[in-house]
Amino acid sequence: MNKVRVAIVGCGSVSGAYIPHLKSSAYVDLVAVCDTLPGRAQSHAQTYQIAHYFTDIDQMLRDVDFDLLVNITPMQLHGPFNRKALEAGRHVWCEKPLATDLTEAQALLELARNRGVNLWGAPSSPISPAFQQMAKIIASGDIGPVFAAHGLYGSPGPDWEGSGWFYQKGGGVLFDLGVYNITTLTALLGPVQSVVAMAGTAIPQRVVGSKTVDAEAVDNTALVLDHGNTVYSVIQNGFVYGAQREDWTIQVLGTKGAMTLGGYDWEPRNVSVLAHGHASNQWTTTPYKRSDYVWECGATYVAECLAKREKPLLTGEHAAHVLDVMLSALKAAETGQRVQLQSTFSWPLGH
Ligand SMILES: NC(=O)c1ccc[n+]([C@@H]2O[C@H](COP(=O)([O-])OP(=O)(O)OC[C@H]3O[C@@H](n4cnc5c(N)ncnc54)[C@H](O)[C@@H]3O)[C@@H](O)[C@H]2O)c1
Repeated sequence: MNKVRVAIVGCGSVSGAYIPHLKSSAYVDLVAVCDTLPGRAQSHAQTYQIAHYFTDIDQMLRDVDFDLLVNITPMQLHGPFNRKALEAGRHVWCEKPLATDLTEAQALLELARNRGVNLWGAPSSPISPAFQQMAKIIASGDIGPVFAAHGLYGSPGPDWEGSGWFYQKGGGVLFDLGVYNITTLTALLGPVQSVVAMAGTAIPQRVVGSKTVDAEAVDNTALVLDHGNTVYSVIQNGFVYGAQREDWTIQVLGTKGAMTLGGYDWEPRNVSVLAHGHASNQWTTTPYKRSDYVWECGATYVAECLAKREKPLLTGEHAAHVLDVMLSALKAAETGQRVQLQSTFSWPLGH
C-alpha cells in the first residue's frame, strides 16, 4: 500500500487528538514530531513510537524525508511554518487559520501551486456525514430555495496554562470559534460577497492558568454575510458565553422548510429537517455518533486522499476565503462600513 509520510509541528493540546487519529490510518506513516518546549516532542515520540523528534522545524525539514507537514502550532506561527514547508516541497495540513493575513494565505496557495504540492486548512467539518446530509437537502430542493441561515457558537474562553495567545494579536474568537460557523455556512450557501459586523473585546484581562493576560483580540462578534442573490447568513461568536443551547447551533431556513444542526459543526450530534411538502409535517431527526466524524480527522483525510490519489473535498481556497471573511468582518467592525470580499472559492465543494 502507498503510505504517506507525515511530520507534526506543535505537540500541545490538539496533538493528543491528532496523533492517535493519524496512527490509526493504514495510509499514514507518522515519521517525526517537533516542538520547541524541551521534552514535548521526545515524550510523544516515545509514547507513540515515532522515529524522529526535534525542537527546531528547520532541522526537521532538513533531516527527515516526509510528504505532509501537519502544522498544529499557535495561530501566529501558521503562515511562517506553512511557508517553510511548502518551500521545502511538502504538502501541508494546517490548523485554522492558514495564516493571519489574507495576502500571506494567498501567497502560500500560489507557492503551493508553483511547487506542485497542496495546502489545506482546518476545519474539516464539510466532510462530516451531518454536513453532507445538509448539503444534499439543500441541493434536493426539499426545503425550497434557501435565503437565510444562522450560526451561533461560543464558550467562556480558553483558560488553560499557555493559552494566553488566544487573546493576543492574531488570536481572538473569530479565528478560534467563528471559523467553524463560517466554514459551514460558506460551504452550504456559497462564497461571501460582502460583510457587515460588530466586534469588540468585552473582557480586557483574562486569567489563563497561573497568569493574567491583557486581551488584545476580539472576544465578542456578530456578523451579517451577503452570499449574493439575496442570501444572507448571521453568525454570532463569543468567548463571553457561559452556556448556550446545543440543540441547534446552525439553522438553515428555506422557503418550504428548515433544518438545524444539533451539537457543533466540529462535533455534530444530529440534523433535524422540516419540509412542508412531506406528509407528516413534522421535524425528522437523524442522529450522529462521535465515531461518524471527529474534528481531528482532517490531516488523516488529506493524507489518505494523497495516498489513494483522490481529489479531496476540502480546498485551501475555501480555507483562504474563510480567512478573508473573518478579516473583512474585523475591518467592517472597525470602520463601520460594509466590506467587499477579495476572494472566492470553487463551490459547491467537490465540483
Ligand atoms: N485547543 C483546542 O481545543 C483546539 C481545537 C481545535 C483546533 N485548535 C487549533 O490547533 C492549534 C494548536 O492549538 P493547541 O490548543 O494545541 O495549542 P497549544 O498551545 O496547546 O500547543 C501549541 C504547541 O506549539 C508549540 N510551539 C510553539 N512555538 C513553536 C515553535 N516555534 N516550534 C515548534 N513548536 C512550537 C508549543 O510549545 C505547544 O506545544 C491552534 O491553531 C488552535 O487554534 C485548537
